[in-house]
Amino acid sequence: MQANSDECLKRTHSCGELRADDVGRRVRLCGWVRSYRDHGGVVFIDLRDRDGITQIVYDLPGDDADEAARQMYAQARALRNEWVISAAGAVRPRGPDRENPKLPTGRIEVLGDDLVVLNRAAPVPFEPDEYGSVSEEMRLRYRYIDLRRPAVAGPQPRRGGIGSLMEALRLRHGVCRTMRSVLDAEGFVEVETPFLTKSTPEGARDFLVPSRLQQGCFYALPQSPQLFKQILMIGGLDRYYQIVRCFRDEDQRADRQPEFTQLDVEMSFAAEADVMGVTNRILAAACELAGRSFPAEPPVLSYAQAMADYGVDAPDARFGLLLRDVSDLVSGTEFGVFRDALAGGGVVKAICPPGGARFTRKEIDGYSAHTREHGGQGLAWCKVTAEGFAGGVAKFLPAEVQAGLRQRLGAGDGDILFFVADKAAAANRVLGALRRKLGADLDLYDESAAAWCWVTQFPLVEWNEDEGRWDSLHHPFTSPWPEDLSGLEADAGAARSRAYDIVCNGTEIAGGSIRIHSPEVQQRVFGLLGIGEAEAQAKFGFLLEALRYGAPPHGGIAFGLDRLVMLLAGCRSIRDVIAFPKTQRGTCPLTGAPTPVGPEQLAELDLRVVAPPSEGHPNALHRVGDPEAGEENEA
Ligand code: AMO
Ligand code: AMP
Repeated sequence: MQANSDECLKRTHSCGELRADDVGRRVRLCGWVRSYRDHGGVVFIDLRDRDGITQIVYDLPGDDADEAARQMYAQARALRNEWVISAAGAVRPRGPDRENPKLPTGRIEVLGDDLVVLNRAAPVPFEPDEYGSVSEEMRLRYRYIDLRRPAVAGPQPRRGGIGSLMEALRLRHGVCRTMRSVLDAEGFVEVETPFLTKSTPEGARDFLVPSRLQQGCFYALPQSPQLFKQILMIGGLDRYYQIVRCFRDEDQRADRQPEFTQLDVEMSFAAEADVMGVTNRILAAACELAGRSFPAEPPVLSYAQAMADYGVDAPDARFGLLLRDVSDLVSGTEFGVFRDALAGGGVVKAICPPGGARFTRKEIDGYSAHTREHGGQGLAWCKVTAEGFAGGVAKFLPAEVQAGLRQRLGAGDGDILFFVADKAAAANRVLGALRRKLGADLDLYDESAAAWCWVTQFPLVEWNEDEGRWDSLHHPFTSPWPEDLSGLEADAGAARSRAYDIVCNGTEIAGGSIRIHSPEVQQRVFGLLGIGEAEAQAKFGFLLEALRYGAPPHGGIAFGLDRLVMLLAGCRSIRDVIAFPKTQRGTCPLTGAPTPVGPEQLAELDLRVVAPPSEGHPNALHRVGDPEAGEENEA
């Protein structure tokens, strides 16, 4: 067939579809040459598309074959990796000794009787299947090559992790579709909100966009649609959602990107149970799609309980190893570190890693160093043996204290006790981090398990030591608990908020709150946060004004979509479930963004770059913005 005929584009199947049942059919497949093997007399082509891989065979034409058959064979021999072809032929069994049990199509092959080269490819910088041995930077730069790795396990991700970006993107698509269908069935309306807007209150740094028409002024890209969704409630929209990009200029981590996607939800005439209920239903449906379980009723922990037991507000509940306060038990002992901490209003907390008595001195020193990396002052320890406690601080712990510790920590012979003495917040932080490390080191959990829990009753505010003021723990529109309103100013630190987070395996997947709908309460909270009238007007005046015109009680939540898909896909980084993510340095290796821009573009915006990137700057290598293009766009 000729390459210029559209007939050769008419695929009968995808490359992942053919099975033994199809033997005898004539089929046409299109895709990329994943590999070729020329066995002199027969050419094997592995043809790949997004669904899988099918083997195509071209046999040496017999002596009586016509010219076309000879040409086809010559063309098959000339194929190289990543060329784009259309191939047709009859499906035949491979024969028992030549089957490939690893491939869903591994029992058949296609005996080629037609071949059209649709496009050639230059030698690729890496083979899609080799992704394990190439740097992430390379995979991001050549994202289209990385994407060519097909889904390996069909429509369901493998338990414990999926292997390809293609699979992750398709799972992501399915999760979004599922979310939309649950929300649609419950009467939620998807509404888009602006990207070019004003600073929003999530507490990260803003990305700014200079305005050409209002020179000297800037839009901020939204950190979330928080204020707009509240305005929609005041307007009577009642039930809103949006799958929306959010922008936050923060330091990158494995579960953070400067632009990320939220499923953002808000509902009117709703209390905590309503928002948590719809969240559970969305998560249950998304988990089901991914072949994972979701609890009928995820456990609910208070913030205080989470901090006490796990030392963090986003607990990894896949394993125990809970933190225990042992201040009362050790208060009478002679160990100076404990005595001093308790005298200074601190606490002594402990954990009991099972089987830890076998830790070597070097291992214990390693854990001690870990606590110092997390801002701790040290790690006290002692081993639990049949003959009593041994080593470390054992000599300071009389028999009755040992008995108390054994009981409180459920410690048995062969375990070890680790103690941290510090102010409560620091002790929790340090020991919570050590708990996570020990959980991984001691293999205390199943990597593919999912432990969901809600965390509620957060403090409304936290003390900012550096600035000497109260900050919102969530954002300033979060409602305080009605019971805590009267003492708000007198004892701000004790006030709880109507916020809730849902956490899985130590990662916050979604968080939200019931909002303040009374202008008076909103003023009081701003007052508490040291946001004066003028500042409140300048920043959020439009919301304060709207609150005066009949705001219904309302609340909502936002899911980190990338984080949820990462979890469902069993990936380690959210970059693995985003088509075109940024690097840790906030760059895009594919496009080279961010780049310097030319003087014309800057002049239009009345901007001047005081210190342009130097010649050696990696981004300076990339093309500079073309001022002509801007004009074309406007025309
Ligand atoms: P919050 O700031 O908690 O709440 O964000 C909601 C969820 O978004 C995810 N998330 C991120 N994911 C990837 N990269 C990031 N940089 C990032 N930052 C946050 C988390 C988090 O749980 N407007 C409120 C929600 C509300 O009150 O309704 C908000 O944005 O999974
Ligand atoms: P030091 O008195 O500093 O020599 O410490 C004696 C032991 O107590 C060492 O093992 C330290 O790691 C440990 N230690 C020091 N400070 C703390 C602390 N705040 N909490 C727990 N252990 C500590």
